[in-house]
Amino acid sequence: MERKTIGFIGAGKMAEALIGGLISKGVFEAGSIIACAPSEKTRNHVAGTYGIEMFATAAEVTARSDLLVLAVKPKHVLGVLSEEGVEIGAGKTLISIVAGLTIDALKSNVPDCKIIRVMPNHCCMVLEGAMGYSCDPSVDAETELSVQEILSAVGLAVKVDESYMDAITGVAGSSPAFMYLVLDAMASAGVLNGLSYNDSIRLAAQSMLGAAKMVLETGKHPDILRDEVCSPGGTTIEGVRTMEDMGVRSAMIAAVDDTIKKSRRMSGN
Ligand SMILES: NC(=O)c1ccc[n+]([C@@H]2O[C@H](COP(=O)([O-])OP(=O)(O)OC[C@H]3O[C@@H](n4cnc5c(N)ncnc54)[C@H](OP(=O)(O)O)[C@@H]3O)[C@@H](O)[C@H]2O)c1
Repeated sequence: MERKTIGFIGAGKMAEALIGGLISKGVFEAGSIIACAPSEKTRNHVAGTYGIEMFATAAEVTARSDLLVLAVKPKHVLGVLSEEGVEIGAGKTLISIVAGLTIDALKSNVPDCKIIRVMPNHCCMVLEGAMGYSCDPSVDAETELSVQEILSAVGLAVKVDESYMDAITGVAGSSPAFMYLVLDAMASAGVLNGLSYNDSIRLAAQSMLGAAKMVLETGKHPDILRDEVCSPGGTTIEGVRTMEDMGVRSAMIAAVDDTIKKSRRMSGN
């Protein structure tokens, strides 16, 4: 499929994840991707790693591309959008991955372009991200389809009403941190019982990956899958009972719910 050029404003960790995913999944060729970063070090690194053309300013990128990804830190957004020569007018599409930045806030700076707001998580870096995205009303079906394809290069992208972005932050944006805590605890139990931490953490992580795949690929409810692992009177049901006794389930609900509440407070919702 012939593609237009996609331009990244910012070339840090998340932009790199997307650029790497787009090239490795064949969604864009390196020659159809451009990006910018103020520091020469970043420009050299990204150009050298992915073979894409790099620029120093957002103005140079916006002049060369109608499909843009805003991937700078929140504190840099206003500065970037008001940079001399930055052109994001009618006919352009802006995919923003900036945490907490609403479509309305973007619209007040770039009123004429089509805007897609994405809340990704950092697992995009290994092409296993989980993302929620929302579109402003001017985004047509064809544009949305190509955005879906772009996001799918780095993980699972689910469309939601923008009012659910705080919930997406809890369930997807922040949730890898909760998984890391669980993984470290599991590995510690392995160490307690004589395994090396290295073996233990790799086995725990692979088990989490496998369990996640079972949920996604079988479509079965986690309760059904858990029952399949627990043989009557066996070892696993003992551990499950301990988890229930110690409130792991309600602790996880509270952790995700508190994250969502904090996100709502920060975004003024
Ligand atoms: N990291 C995550 O897990 C995560 C998860 C969800 C959402 N996000 C969102 O993703 C966005 C990017 O995060 P990140 O972790 O990729 O940040 P990052 O690694 O710090 O990258 C930011 C990039 O922006 C560039 N930049 C700074 N000022 C600029 C300007 N005036 N014009 C053009 N580029 C400029 C920086 O260039 P230099 O390299 O030259 O300094 C850098 O390449 C953030 O808004 C964040 O909220 C991140």
